[in-house]
Amino acid sequence: MGKIHLEKIPRHVAIIMDGNGRWADTHGVTRRAGHTEGARSVQRCVDLCLEYGIPWMTLYAFSTENWKRPLSEVSALMVLLNRFLKQRLSEMMAKNVRLLPIGEIHRLPQRCRKTLLSAVERTSGNAGLNLVLALSYGSRQEITDAVRGIAERVAAGELRPEAITEKTVGEALYTGGMPDPDLMIRTSGERRLSNFLLWQLSYAEIHVTECLWPDFGREQFEAALRDYASRKRRFGKR
Ligand code: FPP
Repeated sequence: MGKIHLEKIPRHVAIIMDGNGRWADTHGVTRRAGHTEGARSVQRCVDLCLEYGIPWMTLYAFSTENWKRPLSEVSALMVLLNRFLKQRLSEMMAKNVRLLPIGEIHRLPQRCRKTLLSAVERTSGNAGLNLVLALSYGSRQEITDAVRGIAERVAAGELRPEAITEKTVGEALYTGGMPDPDLMIRTSGERRLSNFLLWQLSYAEIHVTECLWPDFGREQFEAALRDYASRKRRFGKR
């Protein structure tokens, strides 16, 4: 199957990967197996971004709210992440993928954090695709941290309150220096932002598909790209 021709391609795609649990239920397998299958979709999307020349992709891999799931599921997700990062590192190097984490990385189990930071370091010189993993990520927490950081700079006399602009705030977020997403995809039919990139998604086009994340592949990715290409982005202007 070849690449489809599109008038415009997003520079940054963000994805809420939802539906692993429902996929597991419908296939009569464990939730862990659903997440494992979900990791295959992650790899498919990495390859599709590379094929379409999309330089940024952010994946909502673990939210701050996900810590409230049963310990067995949280552990399974951490083991899966650790394994994914270890097994895919050489492939990421070969494919020129740079890994970047956003979120409260300090909350991740030590082993997982170590693997992650080492993969981030090893891939730091790659420039083919910037793969951003949102891990223990919550947008409200991110904004709260940014506000605290800015307030500290004001208190220290380094910044005047009237000098605070949208740029100041944007740069203080975990995503400082990254472009905002142009397209946000959510799988499994839910129409919510679920505390994902609330500031950064202000002008993003949103594409919701009924497809469950483990079933997400070329067909669904290209449908999202087609949908994006058909939108007229006005950024509030006429
Ligand atoms: C949502 O499905 C998915 C998650 C909470 C975790 C996402 C993790 C993966 C796709 C696998 C590993 C990721 C990487 C980066 C290797 P859900 O469990 O909320 O599904 P449900 O709503 O149907 O129960």
